[in-house]
Amino acid sequence: MDVRIVDDPARVVADLLVDVACAGGHIALAGGSTPKRAYELVAGVDADLSAATLWLGDERVVPRDDDRSNARMVRETLLAGLPEERRPRLIEVETELGPAAAAAAYETRLREELGNHPRLDLVLLGLGPDSHTASLFPGKPALAETHRLVAPVPEAGMEPQVPRATMTYPLLNAAREVVFLAAGADKAEAVRRAFGDPPDESSPAAHVRPGAGTLTVVLDPAAGEGVQQ
Ligand code: 6PG
Repeated sequence: MDVRIVDDPARVVADLLVDVACAGGHIALAGGSTPKRAYELVAGVDADLSAATLWLGDERVVPRDDDRSNARMVRETLLAGLPEERRPRLIEVETELGPAAAAAAYETRLREELGNHPRLDLVLLGLGPDSHTASLFPGKPALAETHRLVAPVPEAGMEPQVPRATMTYPLLNAAREVVFLAAGADKAEAVRRAFGDPPDESSPAAHVRPGAGTLTVVLDPAAGEGVQQ
């Protein structure tokens, strides 16, 4: 595990995203608010990202133009800023199907694009104050998923309290590269639980450990307090 505590984590993450996107990689993006600046920085680069495919690590099951939609956030922060010919493809969760069918359809799409044992090139994840990541909330059944690659989450563990569809451990841990991004003092305890030595087994993020890939944790100094001696 490579933990980087830096003054501008969004810049570090944007550079990682651009590298993989320029190479035509498949990237799962995080939702929430923290990555927005990284996505805006990606939109500002003078590079051709059109060979890349973007996925969502999790989605809120709301209409796609709802302001809680992660796809909408990615469209507005990342895609809209790029000229059309340099824009990557974004594969959205079909939220209009409802959580169970939307999760199943997203899994089917992943298998169509990446084969029966999909390995994403890069997965970007956030971290909640309760140490959830993607929509893998403490105590919820999606944590125990061993077969499905994308699971429905009928009840979220935090705001916004809407159903979700989430990538599961089998898919996240098959990735070539996983990057966590967290910032702010309110994340320090979750950072300690997920990445401290030893990690706290009750932290959902502590179980994201790619078996044949790299794990990088990018933190600002306030969130980094969680892993500082
Ligand atoms: C979501 C997420 C979620 C998020 C964390 C951190 O859709 O809500 O993907 O896992 O990354 O909750 O969210 P913030 O960056 O808003 O703190």
